Amino acid sequence: MAVLKGGVSAEREVSLVSGRECARALRHAGYDVAEIDAGHDVAAALDAARPDVVFNALHGRWGEDGCVQGLLEWLRLPYTHSGVLASALAMDKIRAKAVYAAEGLPVAEGRLASRAEIEAGHPMAPPYVVKPYNEGSSVGVHIVLEGANAPVRLSPDEPETLMVEAYVPGRELTVAVLGERTLAVTDIIAEGWYDYHAKYATGGSRHVVPAAVPDAIAEACRAHALAAHRALGCRGLSRTDFRWDEARGAEGLVLLETNTQPGMTPTSLAPEQAAHCGMDFPALCAWLVEDASC
Ligand code: DAL
Ligand code: MG
Repeated sequence: MAVLKGGVSAEREVSLVSGRECARALRHAGYDVAEIDAGHDVAAALDAARPDVVFNALHGRWGEDGCVQGLLEWLRLPYTHSGVLASALAMDKIRAKAVYAAEGLPVAEGRLASRAEIEAGHPMAPPYVVKPYNEGSSVGVHIVLEGANAPVRLSPDEPETLMVEAYVPGRELTVAVLGERTLAVTDIIAEGWYDYHAKYATGGSRHVVPAAVPDAIAEACRAHALAAHRALGCRGLSRTDFRWDEARGAEGLVLLETNTQPGMTPTSLAPEQAAHCGMDFPALCAWLVEDASC
């Protein structure tokens, strides 16, 4: 089998780690594994390797947004995780929001805005977040705090169109869905914002599994994660992220996004939840391989 890793997105470094860990685990589980760093020659590399199954360990654009999934369909190669449509929908945070809202799931107010609008003045009342609508791992996220005077100043390499979204204060909770079952609720405790460093540096954040939140909140997170997974049409493994403003009780829970290729690094959340359920990392990776299709 082949593990696709790396890729050409802003999350390349994260994917190199996810891919390395998954390849190691799959070898441990007895699979014959080729590792492919997915550059623009990925079709030729797959053709040369001719795997029975492709394990997709890519994150971000081209690897998590339906592009590589389309190529794998075209090549008739069974692959892990979600298919073309679910991947594309989940990666577009604005269109995913419309799907969640249609399901009655709680979302923060958000929309697309141009660079010019974002820099000219506040596009919505602070606090709010400016972020790419199609990237992950908190790459390029700006937070405009309550009472801030100045709007965001964007660097020249940021995109022409971004997403602006109301900032939800409070705790960061997440739930992975494997097949048709939710794994656990994790409470992510970071000092300050759960940014790229907090996500991937050892000790950058602390994870409490299962989260010490009221049963009703944990149940709502699980139900919303499963509903989001189904509404987007996800397959295999997904992870849905929430913020919970404790002061507002059940009303304060908001669904941020669903990740169709959740991180598989040593500091990542879905593998930790699987372990909590008694499924070690090689078993999780092997489960995904068995679930692969095209
Ligand atoms: N986007 C990263 C990989 C995650 O959601 O875990
Ligand atoms: Mg994400």
